[in-house]
Amino acid sequence: MAKKIAAGNWKMNGLMGDLPQIDAIAAAVPTGITALICPPALLVAPAAARTAGTALRIGGQTCHSAAKGAHTGEISANMLRDAGADAVILGHSERRQDQGETDADIAAKISAAQSAGLQAIFCVGESEATRDAGHALAHVADQITAALNANCDAQQLMVAYEPIWAIGTGKTATPVQISEMHAHIRATLAGIFGDTAQDIPLLYGGSVNATNAAEIFACPNVDGALVGGASLTADNFIPIMQALAAA
Ligand code: PGA
Repeated sequence: MAKKIAAGNWKMNGLMGDLPQIDAIAAAVPTGITALICPPALLVAPAAARTAGTALRIGGQTCHSAAKGAHTGEISANMLRDAGADAVILGHSERRQDQGETDADIAAKISAAQSAGLQAIFCVGESEATRDAGHALAHVADQITAALNANCDAQQLMVAYEPIWAIGTGKTATPVQISEMHAHIRATLAGIFGDTAQDIPLLYGGSVNATNAAEIFACPNVDGALVGGASLTADNFIPIMQALAAA
């Protein structure tokens, strides 16, 4: 897997009729990057089947921490893997907020995902109030140290920095803010994993689009992006993949 990662998070968007967007993205993945689309769970299997043999990887948006059992409505990491997923987003701020996921829940899910052979895309990020109070760096370091430890497999881990105030708002963090935070995340990971931390892809997320992608990818310690709204169509996502390949 190339360390440059362009990942799309479709959130609760997409019907079977939208799968041709994934076909078009799969047909346009530039060399030198890893491209990944995480559609809703019901589209994982058909998306993986349609993109088999292409450079596009498919991922899930969450999984349960147990391998199987009496958890009505839940999906296990093994089920995602069985459906053809290579990765899963974990700890997204929308799930921390809407489903009340705690750092401990997220730690357990990361462990389950990695045991099933999935790359864990672990999301962190501060609220606007936390940033305004001057606590953004400390908050994100706390999220990392609460969910990760040396037993995690650094080879099956990516960290996505997604400031909550930048998600779906059209506001992006500035290159200075992104560079500062990504250096801090890299240093925090080094405290856990040592030198291997250099190889963990760090993604920025929050209103990334074709216009701002190149500036974001030029920031030190930015290895790619986790893209929401602009990943829903090939027309919007392909230029982001191309900007990453050119970075
Ligand atoms: P956005 O979402 O690109 O629509 O801001 C990013 C995310 O939440 O992963």
